[in-house]
Amino acid sequence: MFAIQRRPFFAVFRNFNKMSAPSKTKSYVKLLQKAEERENAECVVTGCIPEWLNGDVLRNGPAEFDIGPDTFKHWFDGHALLHKFSMFEGKVTYSSKFLRSGTYKTNHENSRIIIGEFGTASRPDPCKNMFSRFFTNFVEIAPRSDNANVSVAQLGEAYYAITDGPTAYGFDPETLETKNLITDCGPANMTVTAAHPHYDRNGDYLNLGTTFGRTPHYHVIKVPAAKMTSPDPMNELEVFMKFPSTTSNASYHHSFGLSENWIIFHEQPFSFSTPKLLIGLKLWNPILSSFYEDKTKQSLFHIINKTTGEKIATKYEARGMFCFHHINAYETKENDGKRFIVVDMCGSDRSLVWLL
Ligand SMILES: [Fe+2]
Repeated sequence: MFAIQRRPFFAVFRNFNKMSAPSKTKSYVKLLQKAEERENAECVVTGCIPEWLNGDVLRNGPAEFDIGPDTFKHWFDGHALLHKFSMFEGKVTYSSKFLRSGTYKTNHENSRIIIGEFGTASRPDPCKNMFSRFFTNFVEIAPRSDNANVSVAQLGEAYYAITDGPTAYGFDPETLETKNLITDCGPANMTVTAAHPHYDRNGDYLNLGTTFGRTPHYHVIKVPAAKMTSPDPMNELEVFMKFPSTTSNASYHHSFGLSENWIIFHEQPFSFSTPKLLIGLKLWNPILSSFYEDKTKQSLFHIINKTTGEKIATKYEARGMFCFHHINAYETKENDGKRFIVVDMCGSDRSLVWLL
């Protein structure tokens, strides 16, 4: 099998092609092992599940890392596996099925990693001849993965596997069979989204999306409650409001806050470098190589009225931190009448992305 070797002067942009596979001696070694598909396997229950607690818990996550001779280089990269825990009268069964994404099919048809991921580079189609592969690698941009492997969203009667990208796959919640693909968040046309959306009390589905350009913009995108009866509600995503990034780079966001009245967006000093992103697309670098962390910058909080879409002009600052997950957000009123928004987040001084 022929693989194009990168020229040395590209090395500065290609550090992540040289990343070794995640160490299988790390404490999270089990997370990097391939999981098998299961169908209604009986689970051993430790403790007691109330007999009134009946229903299904659906989950999603990376679960296949070795494809032929290749290994994904980051924990976030594995092929998506859908999980279902079905609880009925105190008993639990477990089913799982790999999402048959375009990425999964292509990689399995070729028995190696052709379409890369967050931390793993794609490679030109090995079925092409040497000249075609060389041409492809230096002229075309890298293929975009549709491996929606982070979480699950329910919109009306429809269920979707979703990720940090703008890709969603519909799936059958009974059989876990893969259904339709939605790209770019349908009509909302986003480049990046948060993997953990919110459901408002009125039934709206809310998420954050980013578009790139000379000035990247952040967007609040939503499927209004009234559109949840659509046959494919994820295709009804619309832009509710948008505002520009405070820098030429776009902050990474994996989640965001939602209180009773406000949407809270953390613009963190960990961002996509626009130049690195553009160069990376041409050089087929993984997205991970385009991240940029500025330890001199503060964290900024943008507060948006979830009813009117207006953004409070004040930018609230905090010590610069990296955040994957917002835990909760709520509003308080003190005895002196002052009102506060309290945001609980998991934060760290440094980005954890490169450690996984
Ligand atoms: Fe997450």
